[in-house]
Amino acid sequence: MTRTLITGGLVITASDELHADVLVEGGRVVALATHGSHDWQADRVIDAAQKYVIPGGVDAHTHMEMPFGGTRASDTFETGTLAAAWGGTTTLVDFAIQPKGGSLQEGLDTWHAKADGVCAIDYAFHMIMSEVNAASLKEMDRLVESGVSSFKLFTAYPGVFLSDDGQILRAMQRAADNGALVMTHAENGLAIDVLVEQALARGERDPRHHGEVRKALLEAEATHRVIKLAQVAGAPVYVVHVSAREAVAELMRARDEGLPVYGETCPQYLFLSTDNLAEPDFEGAKYVCSTPLRPAEHQETLWRALRTNDLQVVSTDHCPFCFTGQKELGRGDFSKIPNGLPGVENRMDLLHQAVVDGHIDRRRWIDIACTAPARMFGLHPKKGTIAPGSDADLVIYDPHAEQTLSAATHHMNVDYSAYEGRRVTGRVETVLSRGSVVIDNRRHTGRAGHGVYVPRGLGHYAG
Ligand code: URP
Ligand code: ZN
Ligand code: ZN
Ligand code: ZN
Repeated sequence: MTRTLITGGLVITASDELHADVLVEGGRVVALATHGSHDWQADRVIDAAQKYVIPGGVDAHTHMEMPFGGTRASDTFETGTLAAAWGGTTTLVDFAIQPKGGSLQEGLDTWHAKADGVCAIDYAFHMIMSEVNAASLKEMDRLVESGVSSFKLFTAYPGVFLSDDGQILRAMQRAADNGALVMTHAENGLAIDVLVEQALARGERDPRHHGEVRKALLEAEATHRVIKLAQVAGAPVYVVHVSAREAVAELMRARDEGLPVYGETCPQYLFLSTDNLAEPDFEGAKYVCSTPLRPAEHQETLWRALRTNDLQVVSTDHCPFCFTGQKELGRGDFSKIPNGLPGVENRMDLLHQAVVDGHIDRRRWIDIACTAPARMFGLHPKKGTIAPGSDADLVIYDPHAEQTLSAATHHMNVDYSAYEGRRVTGRVETVLSRGSVVIDNRRHTGRAGHGVYVPRGLGHYAG
């Protein structure tokens, strides 16, 4: 068995920071010890002096190759997982989609076929329920047993993904029974569609109107509603891509009542705003996603909620569409712009920048980006931490390196960066996935197909 020793770094987990050497054997972490206190031999020694040694990131919300609005997300599992690795993420949880008129299993099989044998890092699946009925409700139990323990339901996108309140309640009741976690895209899609129609009739066709019709109040209303439905069902609920401070207030109120209510936000809501959506010459289309970007005032509420654990996770909702040929489908009609932003490669760096800027501390960085998502979605302690027995998914991170984010240098298969020109302090240097070096001092040394599917257990989300 190959032994790798990582020496002299500052090991950071969600709970501790210690100067320690990390011994890796057979794809797992086997021991940690203070530098100089041991005489471990290894096939390879990686010098991490002056660097951080952190768990590989766990991005619990991505959409590789997702079909949307007549096109599909531009990253494949091959390109997207490689970009993730470059950015220090070593596990993705992507969303398999139940086809209309089909079963959950069919959707899962389709997504397995896309990902099988091409991924650079490990991956798992959530299931998007497009149709809640007797058959799909029954199927939930079997999926949970087979390692798909979370289900996304939508109060948005009428005619596509929207489930009505009764369907959401039934799925939550089933989850209360089988231990699954229901994730919700919380926006009032029926009301939004009325506002879209009215805006277009008034001639409001530019990308910035996407942000105006998808009102914060309608995110808050749907967030409140799914929380109450979960309470009635006696189930936990996890609200994805929270962007509005009014929605954060709903989560906080529920958590203050002691309800098992959780939330995720994404880098785009922390670093970008409606100012980006308003960029001229249709450039705003690059920033069209749902929930939408909000005015910058919302960001401070999101940062505070991340500090106070009212939001637990930062995922990317990586769903890239090229500006040329894809975002352009919505020229002259913002409602036809494919929804989604690239970001899988940028999350760890942007959140490290948040450490530099003082929004969060280093352990909280690791918690929201690695440990909490692993716990929430049944991957911990295999993923998301550095401990004896855990997978050796490790990142050597240089906290002093300076870089400029740009489409010219990123590895995501998309023709723009949502963070073009942004200077950040900190950079991924070396990445191990189950003990294999996939990025070696900023050189790719891994291979497509190294990554394997990871069946998940039930989440445990105390706190
Ligand atoms: O705009 C987004 N978020 N696209 C991806 C699909 C979703 O709703 O998460
Ligand atoms: Zn969504
Ligand atoms: Zn999404
Ligand atoms: Zn655990």
